[in-house]
Formats: sequence, C-alpha cells, structure tokens
Amino acid sequence: MELLPLWLCLGFHFLTAEWRTRSAVATAACQRCCKLVDGVADCREQNLAAVPSNLPPYSQTLILDANPLKTLWNHSLQLYPLLENLSLHSCRLERIGREAFLGQARLRSLALPDNSLSESYKETAAAFHSLRALQRLDLSGNSLTEDMAALMLQNLSSLESVSLARNTIMRLDDSIFEGLGHLQELDLQRNYIFEIEGGAFEGLTGLRHLNLAYNNLPCIVDFSLTQLQSLNVSYNNLEWFLASGEEAAFELEVLDLSHNQLLFFPLLPQSSKLHTLLLRDNNMGFYKDLYNTSSPKEMVAQFLLVDGNITNITTVNLWEEFDFSDLADLRFLDLSQNQFQYMPDGFLRKMSSLSHLNLNQNCLMTLHIGEHEPPGALMELDLSQNQLSELRLTPGIPGCLRSLRSFNLSSNQLLSVPTGLFADAGNITTVDMSHNQISLCPQPAGLDGVGPPSCVDFRNVASLRSLSLEGCGLGTLQDCSFQGTALTHLDLSGNWGVLNGSTTPLQNIALTLQALSLRDVGLSASFTELDFSGFRNLRDLDLSGNSLTSFPRFRGSLALQTLDLRRNSLTALPQGAMPVQLMTSLRTIYLSQNPYDCCRVEGWGALQSLHTISDLAMITCNLSSRVIRLVDLPRGTPQDCKWERVNMDLLYLVLILPSCLTLLVACTITFFTFKKPLLQVIKSRCHWSSIY
Ligand SMILES: *[C@@H]1O[C@H](CO)[C@@H](O)[C@H](O)[C@H]1NC(C)=O
Ligand SMILES: *[C@@H]1O[C@H](CO)[C@@H](O)[C@H](O)[C@H]1NC(C)=O
Ligand SMILES: *[C@@H]1O[C@H](CO)[C@@H](O)[C@H](O)[C@H]1NC(C)=O
Ligand SMILES: *[C@@H]1O[C@H](CO)[C@@H](O)[C@H](O)[C@H]1NC(C)=O
Ligand SMILES: *[C@@H]1O[C@H](CO)[C@@H](O)[C@H](O)[C@H]1NC(C)=O
Ligand SMILES: *[C@@H]1O[C@H](CO)[C@@H](O)[C@H](O)[C@H]1NC(C)=O
Ligand SMILES: *[C@@H]1O[C@H](CO)[C@@H](O)[C@H](O)[C@H]1NC(C)=O
Ligand SMILES: *[C@@H]1O[C@H](CO)[C@@H](O)[C@H](O)[C@H]1NC(C)=O
Ligand SMILES: *[C@@H]1O[C@H](CO)[C@@H](O)[C@H](O)[C@H]1NC(C)=O
Ligand SMILES: *[C@@H]1O[C@H](CO)[C@@H](O)[C@H](O)[C@H]1NC(C)=O
Ligand SMILES: *[C@@H]1O[C@H](CO)[C@@H](O)[C@H](O)[C@H]1NC(C)=O
Repeated sequence: MELLPLWLCLGFHFLTAEWRTRSAVATAACQRCCKLVDGVADCREQNLAAVPSNLPPYSQTLILDANPLKTLWNHSLQLYPLLENLSLHSCRLERIGREAFLGQARLRSLALPDNSLSESYKETAAAFHSLRALQRLDLSGNSLTEDMAALMLQNLSSLESVSLARNTIMRLDDSIFEGLGHLQELDLQRNYIFEIEGGAFEGLTGLRHLNLAYNNLPCIVDFSLTQLQSLNVSYNNLEWFLASGEEAAFELEVLDLSHNQLLFFPLLPQSSKLHTLLLRDNNMGFYKDLYNTSSPKEMVAQFLLVDGNITNITTVNLWEEFDFSDLADLRFLDLSQNQFQYMPDGFLRKMSSLSHLNLNQNCLMTLHIGEHEPPGALMELDLSQNQLSELRLTPGIPGCLRSLRSFNLSSNQLLSVPTGLFADAGNITTVDMSHNQISLCPQPAGLDGVGPPSCVDFRNVASLRSLSLEGCGLGTLQDCSFQGTALTHLDLSGNWGVLNGSTTPLQNIALTLQALSLRDVGLSASFTELDFSGFRNLRDLDLSGNSLTSFPRFRGSLALQTLDLRRNSLTALPQGAMPVQLMTSLRTIYLSQNPYDCCRVEGWGALQSLHTISDLAMITCNLSSRVIRLVDLPRGTPQDCKWERVNMDLLYLVLILPSCLTLLVACTITFFTFKKPLLQVIKSRCHWSSIY
C-alpha cells in the first residue's frame, strides 16, 4: 500500500520528463522548418502555439502566418529587437499583451489580417502605443467596429498605410482618423459604411489613395478631398456624386464609381488631373427628351441635403456643372452597362486626350462621328451590345478616327456603315462587326444597281489584321472581299453558305491568315475540294459544326497548330489523310461529337500517342446500335470488331437454337407418333396408285 504513492510519483515524473523531451523535439524540428534567408524567418503553417525563441536575433522579417497562436504574449518578441516586418495572418489572435511590442522601435510593417482582435481590443490598442515607427498596419478581417478602430489607431501618427477592410465599420466620424497626418493610403472596402461625417478625412492631409468599395454609401456630396489621387467607391448604392463647387485644384487621377445606382453623369471637380473614370454598371443617361427643353443647358437638378435637423436645398444646373468639369486629361472612360440613349453634341469633344471609350451595353441608337467627336486621340472604341442602327459620318472631314486601333460594333442592328469609315481609319487593326445583318462589298453582279450600295467595304483597309463577322448573315462571299488587306485573324462563323464549298474567296489573304474560324457555315460532304494547302501561315482552324464527312485536305508546308473538327459527320479517323508534316506541327486537335464507326478507327492508337487530342475522353463511336467511348475501346480494334461480329452471330445462334430444337423435337415426335399410319397411308396410296 505504501508503494502506491511512490509508483504514482515515478509515473508522473516519467510522464513530465517525456513531455519535456517531446516539446524539445518540437522546437528543434521547428527551427528546421522555419526558412531563414537574408534576415527573413518564414515560419508559416508550422502549427506553432507561440513565437519560436530560437530564431536568429538579427531577424528583420518574421512571418508567422497560419499558426494557432491565439495570444501574443507580453515580451514574446523581445528576442528580436531588429524586427522591421511582422506578419501574423490568420493566427486566431484574440489577445495581444500590452507589453508584446515593447522595444520594437524599428517595426515598420505589422500585418494582422483575419484574426479576432475585437475580442480584447483595448489591450491590443494599448500594445500598439509602443510602435513608434510603424508605417503599415493591416487590420483587415477582425470584426472591428468604428470605435475599436478609432482606439487602435489613436496616436499612431507615423502610419502611412492602413487597411481596415472586411470589418464591421458603419459610420466614419471626425475623430476616427485623428492625428494620422502622414497617412497616404486607407483601405475601408467591404465594411457597412453608410455615413461619412463631414470632416472625417479632414486631418489626413497626406491621403492619396482611398478605397471605399463594397460599402453602403447612398451618395457623395460636397466631395472636397483635393489631395486625393485615387478614389474607389465602386459597389455602393451611390445615386449621385457631387464635387464641391470650389475652384480648388484637385489632384484626383483615378475615380472608380462603377457598380452603383448613379442616375446622372457625376459632377466632377472643376479642375483635376483625372485620367481614368470608371462608371460601369450604373443607371446613367442623358435626359434631354424627358425634360422637354430645347437645349440641354436648361437641365436642372435639385439636391436635398439633410444634415442633422438642417435641410439644405442645392440646385445644380447639370449641363453647366458638367461643362465646367475638367476632363481634358481623361484617357480612359468606361460607360458600359448604363442607359445612355444618345451622346449629346459636344460631350466627347471636351475629352481631348481620350484614348479608350467603352460604351458596351447601353441603348444607343445612332452615333454621330464628326471632327473631334470622338476626339482624334481615340484608340479603342467599344459600342457593342447597343441598338445602333445608324452610324453617321460628317462628310468631308477625313481622318476623324485616325488613331483608332480597335472598333467593336458587335451585336447591334447595323445594316451598313458609312462609306469609307474603315478606309479612313488609317491605324485600325481590329474590327468586330459580329451579329449585325450586313453584306460585304462587292455584292454579286445581279444585285448591283438595286437601291443605294448598302454593303460594308473592307477592301484595301491595309492596316486591318483582325476581323470578326460572326453571325452576320453574309451571303456567299465574292472573290475579292478581302483584297488589299493583310488579315491575320478572320471569323466567319455562323454565316451559312458563306464559302459555297471553296476557299477561293479567301485566296487574297491565304498567305497572311493565322487564325480562321469557319464554325457552323454549312460546309458539307459534297465539298471534296476544301483545300487549305495554300494557307501556309495558318495556325488555328475551326471547322466545327459543319457536315464534313471526310478530312479536309492539307498539302504542302503547313504551320497548323490547332484544328477543331467537332460536330461534323466524320465516320473514320483522319489517319492516312494527315501528312507527316501536319502531324508534327499540330499541337491540339478536337475530334469529338462525330458519328465514328468503331470498326473504322484504325490508327486510333497512333493518334492517341501524339497527345494532341484535347477532347479525348469525349470521343465516341458507334458499334452496331451502341455508342462507346473511344477510350473504353480495347486496343487492336479490328479484331474486336470481328469478335463483335462473331459475337452477334453467336447471339443469333443462341436466340434461334431453342426454336430449332423445339421444332426438331416436335417433328421427331410427330414422326414417331404417326409413323405407322403414315406408312400405311403411303403404302395404301401406293397400293391404290399401283392399281393404275
Ligand atoms: C517589409 O515588407 C515590405 C513590403 O510589405 C518590403 O517592401 C520590405 O522590403 C520588407 N522589409 C524587410 C526588411 O524585409
Ligand atoms: C501583459 O502584462 C500586463 C501587465 O504589465 C498584464 O496586465 C497583462 O495581463 C499581460 N498580458 C498578457 C497577454 O500576458
Ligand atoms: C495621444 O496624444 C495626445 C497628444 O499628442 C496625448 O494627449 C494623449 O495622451 C495620447 N494618448 C494616448 C493614449 O497615448
Ligand atoms: C476598386 O475596388 C474594387 C474592389 O476591390 C476593385 O475590384 C477595383 O479594381 C478597384 N478599382 C480600381 C480602379 O482600382
Ligand atoms: C414640349 O414642349 C413644347 C413647347 O414648349 C410642346 O409643344 C410639346 O408638346 C412638348 N412635348 C412634350 C413631349 O411634352
Ligand atoms: C437643431 O438641433 C440643435 C441641437 O442638435 C438645436 O440646438 C437646434 O435648436 C435645432 N434647430 C432646429 C431648427 O430645430
Ligand atoms: C446650406 O447652404 C448654405 C448656403 O449654400 C451654406 O452656407 C450652409 O453651410 C449649408 N448648410 C449645410 C448643412 O450644408
Ligand atoms: C466586342 O464586344 C463583344 C461583346 O461585348 C465581346 O464579346 C467581344 O470579345 C469584343 N470583341 C473584341 C474584338 O474585343
Ligand atoms: C496613326 O495614328 C497616329 C497617332 O495618332 C497619327 O499621327 C497617324 O497619322 C495615324 N496614321 C494614319 C495612317 O492615319
Ligand atoms: C455555289 O457554287 C455552285 C457551283 O460551284 C454555283 O452553281 C452556285 O451558283 C454557287 N452559289 C452561289 C450563291 O454563288
Ligand atoms: C451513331 O449513333 C448516333 C446516336 O445513337 C446516331 O444518331 C447515328 O446515326 C449513328 N451513326 C451511325 C453511322 O450509325
């Protein structure tokens, strides 16, 4: 009995000893797993429960991301007084000891995203007070409210960049960023901010970049942050944006107001350096028709500003305010996904430096192209997905679109374009006219003289390289539609009968063409002469969705890399039809959705070994009435086909055999049952007959 305590003690001692050695092993192991390079100790994802104590004391950067630290204890960093960067991403931190950063006079960058610092924010805020040199602080994803954030940022006057993204901030008052005079960058995206008090950013004289994306702001009025270079208020509920009427010079260069509910074009500062204005996905339009005024200059909006118990009515003359706003430096304007039905005269003229204009997905019906409108510097114009039925070109002013490189007119209702529109645009390389019902010049002889010429002319547009005419309802191409061009990319998909069985209409561009799409154009079995031998630079050929029964012809030197033959009527694999050279250049071939005959897929193994078939798993073949995936087919297909035939014979045999046997048995029984009488009958008959 007296021995029992001794045993227990020994046992306990033994256990603790073992535990100690284990923990020693763990730290030793972790010294090895922290990567140490040039003063950087990278210990991420090492399942550490505390800051390791055996790292080099001269470490400047310590990365402890994704370790379950939970608490950053007092003095746990005191072994590393030279730290400049500390990263504690996703460490489940709830508590930071108020003396944890004592002596960290050199710490410049502290990253604490995705922790739970709202738990004991007061102690954490107290800990930050010793960070005298801190420049970058990342507190994103910590469930912080505005009061917690204010406390944590208090007196951190050295800060240059702060992220409070993904927290639960709802209001910004004038105290939250007090004393952060050196702050240049402030990220507040993905909070619930619905109100910003006047003066909230007042002390931030150095602020350059402000991100308020993904909040609930209903409007921005009296915007007066003249020092700001970029402002991002995308994904809010903004109905209007109104800069202060002062004549102060704004530094603003980039303004992102996309994905809001703006009804009017924003009223921008009268003097700014704005070069990028993003207004995608709003409800903007011009409302001349609605107001029934003879000139847009009489358009007036009244803003009701409620501040506490004071209500102010501000009357803004939309057109004049717009007239005053300074857009001379604007280079990039995105107006896509809005409600614009027209562009007022003079609207684009103000933007003399504009190089990219996106008007995709609006309700434009006509567009007038004249001198300086759009401005001569324009390089990219996207008018796709509107209801354009007419483009008008002021006659006698050549070179309106002289800098234009890319012109997207896809998905409109154009039947033609003004004569010489493309020929005039001397730098144009890319035109997308897909999904407009047009015909190309020259028109077939029979149609000449029937009304005014309403064809689109691409002949002699020497700079043109890429042209999409998908789904344009083009008739059969004439032989010289692309004469004088050096097209490298051409899309003729979805124009039924466009080639009428020969590649002759493409002969002018056969040598330059690199990518050709002939999807769903009705190429059929009768076109045995579909010959791509002259297309020496062709790399990418799409022949899917036709009715080809045989492999197209490729002779001579070829550079073909991608070939798409899906959705055709091929029954055999293109084995012998592929010249050796094609087999070597080809990198990708699509062959699925053809009714291959399983018994005619000889050479399948050879193709497979080239590793060029991208849709291998989807290729099927027909075997009697079954559809089998080619990959499931055993190798040496011909024998299997014979076997399959033998098998079918056997099946018939098995089906027929019982019937035959039954019949045979029945016959035998009948035979033996009626043997005697039958014989007698015969005999008697013979007997009778013998009488004669
Ligand atoms: C600290 O991190 C910043 C980027 O966050 C980097 O530019 C700087 O070089 C790092 N400093 C050290 C000492 O690693
Ligand atoms: C840090 O030390 C202070 C006293 O200086 C103490 O109140 C606090 O609880 C300690 N915090 C931690 C996390 O150890
Ligand atoms: C912050 O600084 C102000 C003045 O610079 C000082 O009065 C105040 O006590 C400081 N607050 C804290 C919490 O250190
Ligand atoms: C604005 O912020 C959103 C969300 O982070 C981002 O997607 C967008 O690119 C930003 N805009 C600019 C101009 O940087
Ligand atoms: C617009 O105003 C004119 C006179 O000012 C009037 O004749 C016309 O009917 C009005 N149109 C609409 C649509 O209200
Ligand atoms: C507006 O509110 C302030 C206090 O918030 C009060 O002193 C003032 O009398 C109020 N004014 C009116 C017109 O109600
Ligand atoms: C209301 O408007 C007046 C004059 O425009 C201005 O002085 C005053 O500050 C405004 N008040 C508010 C609350 O905006
Ligand atoms: C033209 O716009 C359409 C629709 O917005 C788009 O799908 C297409 O890729 C664009 N074309 C070019 C050449 O950028
Ligand atoms: C191409 O664009 C440049 C720059 O905008 C312009 O100076 C030049 O005249 C244009 N070339 C032609 C052939 O129009
Ligand atoms: C298509 O080609 C056939 C024979 O090559 C010709 O008879 C027919 O007129 C052509 N169709 C068109 C629309 O050019
Ligand atoms: C192959 O099978 C498909 C689907 O059952 C059928 O539509 C097609 O006609 C068959 N083709 C041949 C050649 O048997």
